[in-house]
Amino acid sequence: MKNAEIIQQLNLEQKCALLSGETVFTTRGYKKAGIPSITLSDGPNGVRKQAGAADHLGLNPSVPATCFPTAATVACSWDPALGEEIGHAMGEEAAAQEVSVLLGPGLNTKRSPLCGRNFEYFSEDPYLSGKMAAGYVRGIQSEGISACPKHFAVNSQELRRMASDSVVDERSLRELYLTGFEIVVKEAHPKTIMSSYNLINGTYANENAHLLQDILRKDWGFDGAVVTDWGGSNDHALGVKNGSTLEMPAPGGDAVRELLKAVETGKITEADVDARLDELLTLVFDTHAAVENHSREFDADAHHALARRAAAESTVLLKNEEGLLPLAAGARVAVIGDFAETPRYQGAGSSAVNSIKVDTFLECLKESGLNSVGFAAGFDRQGKPDDAKKAEAVALAKKADTVLLCLGLDEIKESEGLDRADMKLADNQIELLQAVQQANPNTVVVLSAGASLETPWLTHCKALVYGALGGQAGAGAMVDVLTGKVNPSGKLAETWANAYEHTPAKDNFAGKGRTVQYREGLYVGYRYYQTAGVPVAFPFGYGLSYTNFAYSDLKADAHSVTLTVKNTGNRAGAEIVQLYIAKPDAKVFRPAQELKAFAKVQLAAGESKTVTLTLDDKAFRYWNTKTDSWEVEGGSYEIRVGASSADIRLTAVVEVAGTEAPNPYAGKSLPHYESGKVQSVPDAEWETLMGCLIPEDKVRIDRNMTLGELNHSRSPICWLVWLVLHTLLTASYKRGKPDLNVMFQYNMPLRALAKMTNGAISMGMVDGIVMEAKGFWIIGLCRVIVEAVKNVILNVQLEGRLRNS
Ligand code: BGC
Repeated sequence: MKNAEIIQQLNLEQKCALLSGETVFTTRGYKKAGIPSITLSDGPNGVRKQAGAADHLGLNPSVPATCFPTAATVACSWDPALGEEIGHAMGEEAAAQEVSVLLGPGLNTKRSPLCGRNFEYFSEDPYLSGKMAAGYVRGIQSEGISACPKHFAVNSQELRRMASDSVVDERSLRELYLTGFEIVVKEAHPKTIMSSYNLINGTYANENAHLLQDILRKDWGFDGAVVTDWGGSNDHALGVKNGSTLEMPAPGGDAVRELLKAVETGKITEADVDARLDELLTLVFDTHAAVENHSREFDADAHHALARRAAAESTVLLKNEEGLLPLAAGARVAVIGDFAETPRYQGAGSSAVNSIKVDTFLECLKESGLNSVGFAAGFDRQGKPDDAKKAEAVALAKKADTVLLCLGLDEIKESEGLDRADMKLADNQIELLQAVQQANPNTVVVLSAGASLETPWLTHCKALVYGALGGQAGAGAMVDVLTGKVNPSGKLAETWANAYEHTPAKDNFAGKGRTVQYREGLYVGYRYYQTAGVPVAFPFGYGLSYTNFAYSDLKADAHSVTLTVKNTGNRAGAEIVQLYIAKPDAKVFRPAQELKAFAKVQLAAGESKTVTLTLDDKAFRYWNTKTDSWEVEGGSYEIRVGASSADIRLTAVVEVAGTEAPNPYAGKSLPHYESGKVQSVPDAEWETLMGCLIPEDKVRIDRNMTLGELNHSRSPICWLVWLVLHTLLTASYKRGKPDLNVMFQYNMPLRALAKMTNGAISMGMVDGIVMEAKGFWIIGLCRVIVEAVKNVILNVQLEGRLRNS
């Protein structure tokens, strides 16, 4: 143990107290032993430090900071070095604001395009996610503070996010949902990692020994601190035993007593507490020193410039008919769309940054050399039809050579706590596009959205530029791309399906009850579309350029691949070279092809470069559920190198030695997994893959019943609570503005009452509420009252002892 000397000075109660937070975003300190309190703050695309009232939903204001493009955007740059630069800048701002742990990046796998937090995550592909996240972590930690990759793991929906059980087969777990985290842990060594809210195959992530001990600590060698998501602790003692270091936010004295009792009863040992404390103290001392030594200064202008460059390098050109773009200097443009005036540049929830300044498209256009004939808002942002606005826009469109039409998703469509209802652009925006195009066929759609959309309206524009959520400087970046100051070189980090009905998990997303069935297994994103032969609107890895690239001279062996890429056009640009691996004769079923390496090459007009791509330990492996380890099927593999997952330019075949493991699926009937056609896998087949029966999905009256399920209780008081919440929620939906706070409470399990009220509610009180819900009205109520009194007295005594000892 690194901190044995200090730990020896503390009594058990003091030790247990240190393992949970003191306030929403700070840990407990203990002056006499020289242990400082440290601050943790969101978030993934900029610092969200709340100096006043703090919350985990981004409801109260925070200290101004640079808002960088969100992860979904920067992922389109396919440039981990850019991620590292952003991470460095965020780390600098965090340290300047005395933040020791920056809660990000988020790298959950985009299982469905509808996950409300997809804008905060990188990709549907774990390799790309892991590499990008590793860049961020290296950057953040270069400032001496800690990054905190999240949410570990299999947390791919917002519905019931604190109490849903992700039921997933072990192979998909390892290959799809954990590989990104494995890359980040092994390659960037984060000092902390955040456990997710959900359960995985029946056990909460935060107390999951398989996840936190076997995989994270033993297999991957993680030696940092595991931090719970805010309110994500279920059984604190089990968490401590199984590898969770710090419970956040501030569960109060109850959490301390829970640990003390667990040691007394032998549920856990004092050695478990010491082991976790050692991890915590290492983090605290290490990051506190970095914060103390920081100058408290950073260059806000330089960070703004970086944010602009990052957004520009991440912009994806999806369509460019007749070479409409880039626009020549002096071109007469009509700017249409509310987003040009009020940009949509980040998502809602805990990642929302109080930006230092925000550029607008209209302002940035003034310095672009383009000649603007005017601006019209064109549509109502919340989706209401508005003929007057439309007519004004159409009239304006007629006056220009080209229309720059800024469309996108409004703020509430992409938010933490709320999954998207569909993949559609609002009807009023599509109608506007049709009308504008009729008035002026040279229509360029500039799209702001943090996730993929259906694009049945694509034929109504000549060009489509996807800026995703570009951060505070995103507007300027878009102008740079439209005018050709920057060549668009971003490529999609997620597939854009033709229709939501085509997506692989459509029948099992979002799991509404206790369990979420990951029946599609390995076939997420392009792994599904390409294996099952489903056409898509824009494939994974797709993106156009103002120049062209030629690929040649592929040489490959099982370790490394080289090729030449030449810029054959007449302007400089970057190309993202992607390497996919396929095994058409595989005995062990696998997706048609998988991304295993990539590189971004910057090339002047006419320039050629040799690109080397390294094939690492992840290139050929698959998880074998029979041997419980990574294995390699021997034989020949196709190396496919291309400009997107659907635009393979060169191929080679390499021979790879196998590990001779038995086929885990031998003798099993898994036709849907063999063909990849997994949209409707029958129960029996899924059970065969899982190796167990489908878990039941009934509402249960216990600590993990959500407030939104209280209508299933047997208590009028609970019905009333449900009715109030339900009415508030429905009313907020009707207003077209779902109330995130109410939504959070609705999806919150009863136990979270004890975890998120700064000690005001104890687990004993929650147990009283559960009795109440079970129909023991009087006993339940009495228990709540008795436990409440007990809680107040014990808390006062505990805090007194901690202060005075
Ligand atoms: C989110 C985390 C966030 C935390 C603290 C939680 O609700 O899931 O991503 O870091 O709050 O704000």
